[in-house]
Amino acid sequence: MTTRVALIGAGGHGLSHRRTLQRLLDAGRIEVAGLCDRQPVAAHPDAPLDGAPFFTDHTELLSVTRPDVVVICTPPHTHLALALDVFAAGADLLLEKPPVMSLAEHEKLASSCGGRILQIGFQALGSVALAELCAAEPSGEIGVTGAWWRPDTYYQRAPWAGKRLVDGRPVLDGALVNPFAHALMQALVVADAAGPEFRPVTLELERYRTRAIETDDTTFLRLTGADGRRITAAVTLASPVFIAGEIRVGEAVLEYPTDRLRLPGEPDFRHVPGRAGLLENLLDHRRDRTVPLLAPLSRTAGFTAVAEAIVASPAPEEIGPEWLTPHPDGGGSVIAGIDSLVREVADTGRLPSETGVPWARPGHRVALGALPAH
Ligand SMILES: NC(=O)c1ccc[n+]([C@@H]2O[C@H](COP(=O)([O-])OP(=O)(O)OC[C@H]3O[C@@H](n4cnc5c(N)ncnc54)[C@H](O)[C@@H]3O)[C@@H](O)[C@H]2O)c1
Repeated sequence: MTTRVALIGAGGHGLSHRRTLQRLLDAGRIEVAGLCDRQPVAAHPDAPLDGAPFFTDHTELLSVTRPDVVVICTPPHTHLALALDVFAAGADLLLEKPPVMSLAEHEKLASSCGGRILQIGFQALGSVALAELCAAEPSGEIGVTGAWWRPDTYYQRAPWAGKRLVDGRPVLDGALVNPFAHALMQALVVADAAGPEFRPVTLELERYRTRAIETDDTTFLRLTGADGRRITAAVTLASPVFIAGEIRVGEAVLEYPTDRLRLPGEPDFRHVPGRAGLLENLLDHRRDRTVPLLAPLSRTAGFTAVAEAIVASPAPEEIGPEWLTPHPDGGGSVIAGIDSLVREVADTGRLPSETGVPWARPGHRVALGALPAH
């Protein structure tokens, strides 16, 4: 019998899931049980999903259509409650990243699966380039960079964008926990592969903003593991110069958004094609449990611990207008020289306040608790 798949949260990023559903429907791999969104969602020519019933209430979708598999693509602070309803309805689940808001929610989710399959939407974990980097067991300090530009409109795209609270409830946004979340997740996976399991024990953080938002658009993080190994991440959404993003481990470098890899001794980057789809992988695992899940919840505990500590830390510091220049296209300002700075921080492991960057402020330090056992 064909697997019946439903989608909760069909607007916004849900369009990418509608495209996947259309592709798998056309290939005869699934039936689309139904779509759900609180808002009306316009059909898209790439993914018309003709005839799929539409619901505004997920409980009605679940009780009427009885799907085998559900994809949840709603804002992070809504994930846990929706996921519990999906498990109560007996369906397997692909839950968008970040899965949950805290380690307490992680444990609640883990203990509520009741034997159902749970995959988390960190699609970069399906990267063949990442697998090749991990298999090479690179050694050395880990540095993560990324320098992008996001105009003011980016922070108007969703009610929770750029916010710390919505309706009095915490939400999860900020450069490293949202747009660069895949970089952080991949760096934690690489650290696990590069030695004994990486257990972050200390987090040192500098968060900055260039505009009137509640969260950060420029983030520097140093994570120290129980064995002394470190991951230093430096990312910004306020750069005039684009750096796609790199994870550097000693002499190995993965340009993670493009799957370009350079292993020690190799002169140049080479493209390593291949990304396994997370829904396809979940369907394969459903059919044959010897096929491993690429992004099970257990793999994301370190990410959740770090994300929880970041959003619970003091509000980001504003970088004053004297350090900013308007972006040539309008829509906000950029930090002059930030592209060089993110590289320097990731390469040296020293945060901006430790190297005399004039707009930098002393960082925030947190001791992280134990992660749940895998
Ligand atoms: N994997 C990725 O690369 C990637 C990229 C972008 C976003 N995301 C994740 O996807 C999720 C959604 O992000 P977004 O930017 O589309 O958010 P969004 O705020 O635009 O929400 C998506 C949709 O969910 C709907 N929605 C909200 N609550 C609902 C509910 N209770 N029932 C049904 N529908 C509901 C909204 O109406 C909206 O259409 C987030 O977890 C985000 O982090 C992942």
